[in-house]
Amino acid sequence: MTKARAATTAAAVTACCALLLTACGQDSTGGSKEEKGKKKQTIGVAMPTKSSERWIADGRNMTKILEKAGYDTTLQYGEDDPDQQVAQIENMITQGVDALVIAAINGEALSNVLQQAADADIPVISYDRLILGSPHVDYYASFDNEKVGRLQGEYLVEKLGLDKDGGKDKGPYNIELFAGSNDDNNTRFFFNGAMEVLKPYLDKKQLVVRSKQTKLNQVTTLRWDGGTAQKRMDDLLTSAYSRERVDAVLSPYDGISIGILSALKSDDYGSKAKPLPIVTGQDAEVSSVKSIVAGEQTQTVYKDFRELAKVAAEMVDAVLGGDEPEINDDKTYDNGEKVVPAHLLEPVSVDKSNYQEMLVDSGFLDAKDLG
Ligand code: GAL
Repeated sequence: MTKARAATTAAAVTACCALLLTACGQDSTGGSKEEKGKKKQTIGVAMPTKSSERWIADGRNMTKILEKAGYDTTLQYGEDDPDQQVAQIENMITQGVDALVIAAINGEALSNVLQQAADADIPVISYDRLILGSPHVDYYASFDNEKVGRLQGEYLVEKLGLDKDGGKDKGPYNIELFAGSNDDNNTRFFFNGAMEVLKPYLDKKQLVVRSKQTKLNQVTTLRWDGGTAQKRMDDLLTSAYSRERVDAVLSPYDGISIGILSALKSDDYGSKAKPLPIVTGQDAEVSSVKSIVAGEQTQTVYKDFRELAKVAAEMVDAVLGGDEPEINDDKTYDNGEKVVPAHLLEPVSVDKSNYQEMLVDSGFLDAKDLG
């Protein structure tokens, strides 16, 4: 351990105890640094955008947990602009934060700024999206991202009845594929997970991609933007579906699903004669869950961001306290410079049949918000 980090260690031990006690629902004030008259440590939290509900909730969850544990926090949103995010992180380093939690906009754009963090001996937790090309990423808190894709693929296969007895005679069904932003490492994990499930059916021609756009670089959606996805779906419907109907759409994320559904509805999908295709998603955002309840979007993948924030906060706490955080994966996430030790949480497939139990009863969403 370097000198600077050792110096912060002792001060952090009390915060570590505070976090654990808070997690157990006990009063944490006894262990807080404030009471002992020491300067609080500050954690810089860099989030990608406020354009999606989930990141707003992530920022709120992170700061709440860290503050309860006795830390100060500084939270910044990069508005989907990688340069802005770099500038925000640079500022946090200049301000002397004690640790950084970063959900990257462009996973490859942070090497220089992470070098500055390392020079200042500031540990870095990569939040949800892996930061690439830097040895200075201490830990990674995320979900089993390949499984997210598998859940989407399996849902499509199951709903089309391809996996059942007699499924081998089913089809061909028309499917179109969408992926996330090409600068987000999660994108290829989601896509590969889904394609692993779909490929055998594509090979047997039970699933057909009429646009012929099946390669990841043909189907990405910059910055996960719903409008961009809507435009691409419009184009696909015009170019490949003047006679045929689309039966299924692999969508990696709710914001993209809503864009796809808008394009479909503008093309008169949604009637008895022309039912909407099966459309997957991810994040269980309120607008998508409403759409699922209304029978439009078909599925989403629920990831409990409250748990993710807890895991990331525990990582911060452990690192500052000179401890090893609990990890459950030390193989999967190679960022080009190192395999980043990770704690991965489980994603869950949600549709109309289980949204009440998974999302409402669990307190993840408020029934009021769903109308
Ligand atoms: C990914 C994340 C997804 C979704 C998407 C768009 O990195 O893992 O859950 O939020 O970004 O924001």
